[in-house]
Amino acid sequence: MRSFLLLPVFLSLWISAKASLAAGTDTLKTKTYMIPDKANFDTTLNGKAVHLFTLENKKHMQVAITNYGGRVVSILVSGKDGKPVDVVLGYDKLATYRKKGEPYFGALIGRYGNRIAKGKFTIDGKGYNLAINNGVNALHGGPAGFHAQVWDARQVNKTTLQLSYRSVDGEEGYPGNLDVKVTYTLTDDNALRIDYQATTDKTTVVNLTNHTYFNLNGEGNGNILGHTLMLNADKFAPVDNTLIPTGQLAGVSGTPFDFRKSFRIGARIKGDDEQLKNGKGYDHNFILRKTGKKPELAAVAEGDKTGITMNVYTTEPGVQFYSGNFLNGRAYNGKGGVNYPIRSGFCLETQHFPDSPNKPQFPSTELKPGGTYKSTTIYQFSAK
Ligand code: GLA
Repeated sequence: MRSFLLLPVFLSLWISAKASLAAGTDTLKTKTYMIPDKANFDTTLNGKAVHLFTLENKKHMQVAITNYGGRVVSILVSGKDGKPVDVVLGYDKLATYRKKGEPYFGALIGRYGNRIAKGKFTIDGKGYNLAINNGVNALHGGPAGFHAQVWDARQVNKTTLQLSYRSVDGEEGYPGNLDVKVTYTLTDDNALRIDYQATTDKTTVVNLTNHTYFNLNGEGNGNILGHTLMLNADKFAPVDNTLIPTGQLAGVSGTPFDFRKSFRIGARIKGDDEQLKNGKGYDHNFILRKTGKKPELAAVAEGDKTGITMNVYTTEPGVQFYSGNFLNGRAYNGKGGVNYPIRSGFCLETQHFPDSPNKPQFPSTELKPGGTYKSTTIYQFSAK
């Protein structure tokens, strides 16, 4: 009789516990996302001014970019309920972007995005040596690559930011003075367009990309394993255990690399597959079906909790799909103090293939004096 009387008490306790749990998740989902305080980015480094710039379109989508490393700090997209969701990982202040071991959040990468085996290559019979900063290889343009440089910035209007940088002859071991221009444009169809351009005065290699980590459920809102991803690629570049391509291209069919139809990122990531082991997850270059002068569809990703979708278009022949395997939650805290554990963000780095300077069978990354390097990538957002 007594226990019978207690039943309603247990029931109401259980209901309120469930309600507060739900409220906990709701708080996460309805977190108020804002662009970090600009004052935290205002400084002078090596005589150059650093700021945080904001682009805004007619749909109230906002993108914040700092000219330190040309980094995308925030992308605020409207979710289903019309409230802004920040879909990129990043930091509240410039000081954290400058810390050692920071994982290239939002950065422009150059002069050569991705790896060059043992940091060595030759051009016209002359050998060059780059700093080794990733095991036995050179990664992302070296320790003082473009991600760690202050770019000259000019905000042309509310939706356009022009960045330029001169990488001098010999910088990080690369030949030739390279003049680089990158234009970020936020369009009214909710796309962030990145136009890259470069010229040189000596033959060099160039492979520019952007290293933004996306979480379409909102940064700080769990991992990305439930996101779905489509990659417009029939082939990918298998790698050795130092993440250098073997030089062969492999078909994706029948492998965990088949994303030709939308697939959950986490569905096959832990499978018994040599390539997934070498990459510690996905960290591979996918060979895009279509390459041209005009940007073609490379990828479609969707956040399972928000329904926010991102379409990626590019003129590049490849895209590095990196599932955030090296994030470990132990590095510096992100925006609002959140912690970014393993796979809490993913990158789609449009690019030429890794180690192309040592793989004559891959599309060339050489740029000669008189030629112009040009590349365009578009990240377009919508909410279902
Ligand atoms: C790229 C690489 C990864 C890793 C990250 C940065 O995506 O392919 O292996 O180095 O950059 O942590």
